[in-house]
Amino acid sequence: MEEKYELAMKPMTIGNLTLKNRIVMPPIATYQSTEDGKVTSKMLEYYGMRATGSNLAMIITEHSYIDIRGKARKNQLSISSDEDIEGLKRLVDTIHQGGAKAMAQLNHAGSAAPSDVTGERAVAPSSVILPVSPMMGDGTAPEELTVSQIAEIVEQFACAAKRAKAAGYDGVEIHSAHAYLLNQFYSPLTNHREDDYGGDIERRLRIHREIIQSVRSAVGKEFMLSLRLGGCDYAEGGNTIEDSVYASKALADAGVDMLNITGGMCRYTRQGHNEPGYFQDMSSAIKKAVSIPVMLTGGVKTLEDAETLLKNNAADLIGVGREILKNPYWLMEQMEK
Ligand SMILES: Cc1cc2nc3c(=O)[nH]c(=O)nc-3n(C[C@H](O)[C@H](O)[C@H](O)COP(=O)(O)O)c2cc1C
Repeated sequence: MEEKYELAMKPMTIGNLTLKNRIVMPPIATYQSTEDGKVTSKMLEYYGMRATGSNLAMIITEHSYIDIRGKARKNQLSISSDEDIEGLKRLVDTIHQGGAKAMAQLNHAGSAAPSDVTGERAVAPSSVILPVSPMMGDGTAPEELTVSQIAEIVEQFACAAKRAKAAGYDGVEIHSAHAYLLNQFYSPLTNHREDDYGGDIERRLRIHREIIQSVRSAVGKEFMLSLRLGGCDYAEGGNTIEDSVYASKALADAGVDMLNITGGMCRYTRQGHNEPGYFQDMSSAIKKAVSIPVMLTGGVKTLEDAETLLKNNAADLIGVGREILKNPYWLMEQMEK
């Protein structure tokens, strides 16, 4: 068995974090939190089942909002207040007891935050309704962020990262994919700014560099920092694979330890594709261009799929979402095959 899945079962070290194999549960929003975003016993049970005896290397917990104005949905997990730390600690302990590493995914939904959830008008790089289907947000045009509001959001990411560290997480992941706020800055489809935060790709990535810097000063060099990049929009006028390679190099230079590759305005699926590793054209190009680990998610159904993608140098780590959502023991069962 071990030989059959030699690459998938091979341990790896990222910074000072040792992963026992290459299979990761990517963030999957379950929206099982309380009304104000606290961890519930239902969540402990859900994550516990997936960590215990499943042999997963790492679980990246579902996207959590760093500020109420960036809340994507009712019952989403919060990391926006120090009062959230206690519940998050219980969540991390549950995952660690099961033997997996735990990362927190930090998110601001931007224009995808519905006003009936946040109580406020949504904010975004530009006053553009998201070009995604099905619709995200409430369908109204968001308010364009001022430079001082951008600075506040940068600070909110750093405060959230600090809370994750206080809760015992092994690292944090900055969410810049699936049409949420940081993806809205990165994509030319949604960023029409003419100041330092819009225009060419360097400027569309300015907020990312500022967040990386401020998260680093909040949690230190040793704390694992991943960025989930919706690298390519696979849409006319959107970011291309070439852009994703450029962005990955810039983000690695800015100091992230790992890149978790997925879709941009196409979100986590890709029209006309459902083969294992349907973003592998992008992740393979990125892997060639950077020296930090690259994770690929999308369409993996068997451990053999993961092994093949690793063998083909499509990535260093493989995310398995919906299969583990359906079956908490997916990895153990696959290892027996
Ligand atoms: C119900 C559901 C919730 C999701 N929630 C998140 C999330 O919170 N953060 C995120 O980055 N991706 C999220 N995703 C995307 C997954 O992490 C993953 O990229 C996607 O399911 C494709 O991988 P798969 O084919 O292995 O399922 C979600 C996907 C699903 C189906």
